[in-house]
Amino acid sequence: MRILLTGKNGQVGWELSRALAPLGEVVAFGREELDLAVPDRIVSAVRTVRPDVIANAAAYTAVDRAESEPEAAHTINAVAAGILAEEAKRAGALLVHYSTDYVFDGAKNAPYVEEDPPNPLNAYGRSKLAGEYSIRAAGAPHLILRTSWVYAARGKNFFMTILRMLREKNPLRIVTDQIGAPTSAGALADATAELLRRYDTLALGKMSGTYHATAGGSTSWYGFAAQIAQLERAALPQMPPIVPIASSEYPLPAPRPKNSRLSNEKLLRRFGVKLPPWEVCLEACHARLRQGGPARES
Ligand SMILES: NC(=O)c1ccc[n+]([C@@H]2O[C@H](COP(=O)([O-])OP(=O)(O)OC[C@H]3O[C@@H](n4cnc5c(N)ncnc54)[C@H](OP(=O)(O)O)[C@@H]3O)[C@@H](O)[C@H]2O)c1
Repeated sequence: MRILLTGKNGQVGWELSRALAPLGEVVAFGREELDLAVPDRIVSAVRTVRPDVIANAAAYTAVDRAESEPEAAHTINAVAAGILAEEAKRAGALLVHYSTDYVFDGAKNAPYVEEDPPNPLNAYGRSKLAGEYSIRAAGAPHLILRTSWVYAARGKNFFMTILRMLREKNPLRIVTDQIGAPTSAGALADATAELLRRYDTLALGKMSGTYHATAGGSTSWYGFAAQIAQLERAALPQMPPIVPIASSEYPLPAPRPKNSRLSNEKLLRRFGVKLPPWEVCLEACHARLRQGGPARES
């Protein structure tokens, strides 16, 4: 199996490089080798590699910055995703693409299912939703995996930020009224590899569609921070307090949904694939970092 991977230096892309390697030949691109803002480059990369699978882990992920540069977010998250899908169709390849809980407004009082109507609150969510539409419109075999609250033992993310802040003296003020499932990039990449290991691309193409793929369970950002602190307790006996606050006390340019919970039932029912509970993924990620971390930092 030949796999074209985009976003190889991102959280998910990095983990996909590892997880997909045993499945065949992975031809991985970072932004410097394949800039998704340049349509011709996308076309020529796909036509040169002639992949069986395109795994698109590249995205414009700066949620707050997207409010002031929505066109840039749209170019990468919607236009480029659509071109990848058209090229996947032309090549007879399966497109595996990642989307987000931010396509929903968070008003539902239960976990979102795939069929719930989207209503993004911010520009990033709108660009990711437009990407979903372009992929479906292209008619390529595809899996759109919607995930949430992604972190890894490298790069910039909530997990790494909390680890740093716990080493500083100031109290941590963390939002408690947004609920979701922290999902490690490693567990998401492993689940992606599991799908490709269990089913051939033809079978996956027949089950084209949108699937929610987050770690199990849910918590608030405050609960996530508290669990990280718990794992650090042995190493850091003296920690600053963690203070729960409301989102309104921490205004950001992009509004976030209060309820980011996604039901993973469909992924389990269709494919028998399920990510571990978020606490288990967090412990594994923390252990990995403490054992020396991923091969290299970004
Ligand atoms: N992070 C989350 O909390 C979260 C939540 C839900 C869904 N998702 C989705 O999960 C997927 C993976 O996200 P992630 O967390 O791994 O994001 P990430 O760590 O920000 O990685 C995204 C990668 O895309 C690359 N990229 C950005 N613009 C590009 C361009 N014009 N051409 C080529 N590459 C470009 C970035 O390169 P640079 O390093 O050069 O910028 C980066 O390596 C995305 O589809 C994202 O929307 C993420």
